[in-house]
Amino acid sequence: MVKAVVLGAAGGIGQPLSLLLKLNNTITELALYDIVNSPGVAADLSHINTPAKVTGYLPPNDGLKIALTNAHLIVIPAGVPRKPGMTRDDLFKINAGIVRDLATNIAKYSPNAYVLIISNPVNSTVPIVVEILKKHGVFDAKKVFGVTTLDVVRASTFTSSVSGANPQEVRVPVVGGHSGVTIIPLLSQIAPSYNFSQEDIEALTKRIQFGGDEVVKAKDGAGSATLSMAQAGARFASSILNATVSGEAGIIEPSYVHLDADSVGGDQVKNTVDGLDYFSSNVELGKNGIEKIHPLGDLSEYEKKLLEAAIPELRANINKGVSFVAESK
Ligand code: NAD
Ligand code: LMR
Repeated sequence: MVKAVVLGAAGGIGQPLSLLLKLNNTITELALYDIVNSPGVAADLSHINTPAKVTGYLPPNDGLKIALTNAHLIVIPAGVPRKPGMTRDDLFKINAGIVRDLATNIAKYSPNAYVLIISNPVNSTVPIVVEILKKHGVFDAKKVFGVTTLDVVRASTFTSSVSGANPQEVRVPVVGGHSGVTIIPLLSQIAPSYNFSQEDIEALTKRIQFGGDEVVKAKDGAGSATLSMAQAGARFASSILNATVSGEAGIIEPSYVHLDADSVGGDQVKNTVDGLDYFSSNVELGKNGIEKIHPLGDLSEYEKKLLEAAIPELRANINKGVSFVAESK
């Protein structure tokens, strides 16, 4: 039995993400939770002829508890999206409380699940989830992931538009965090390798860092990336399932994770990022979640400057999440 749960399943990301998870044959049960409309989304998806049994839950009658019980993997796209002129940090006021309360229920009803956090600001919501799990004594650093896959997907697409490569075959490690200057694409490590001009490197870096703003602007008040995010979230969820259920070895995906898992290499990254407790780096997945957090590798002089610029903002975002939980009753 492999149960996947989507929290915020009726939203712009939640619906297409739930559709893509319904198409994943490893999942045998798909529980959809939202404060509105989730039973309707579940009824609709349940007619698709794939193995997953789909159920939908609302808050009454222990809906969240039932949705979470026996979960293997939980994806969280619950919360408000940006409008033009907003930063992701502007979402903290509303989304921090939503994520804290969902994490509290995860700690109680599915403490062993893999938790994938999409809700923004990711740089702060991941520390919020970790602090809540710690508070309940159920934190496992190998099982909590900030989903930064959309940055990786964008990096493949945008670099290919310059290099002419097939975007599906291009891999660019994107490290750091998930907002503006904290997003650090390592174009010097692109595979297959390609020599961009410095002008192209700077333009591509800016575009990858602010790709989310392109969508927010184009949607003009109707929200942020939903469809590309659903694909990216489903890809990351599928990587977790392939590693933890199917036992596939050697899967590597960048993800924003807690770095204190000394046994899995977090300390090595921590030392290169001025002691930050969270950072997105290439993460190797295994049967029990994070198998190894890979070091950042050789950085160009330009990438070293990007890293320097990212660290203070990341530190502030992380501290904000940690303090929020410390100050919550
Ligand atoms: P949306 O408003 O369309 O959907 C959010 C859903 O969350 C709604 O259905 C809402 O009812 C639900 N919700 C609100 N409070 C809830 C609660 N307490 N419990 C369960 N569900 C609740 O928004 P969206 O476009 O789907 O975006 C969702 C979040 O994902 C935003 O915070 C957005 O910034 C973020 N996002 C992250 C990335 C990333 O790369 N990590 C990419 C895109 C969007
Ligand atoms: C994105 O990168 O598209 C998301 O984080 C949503 C946003 O606010 O830009």
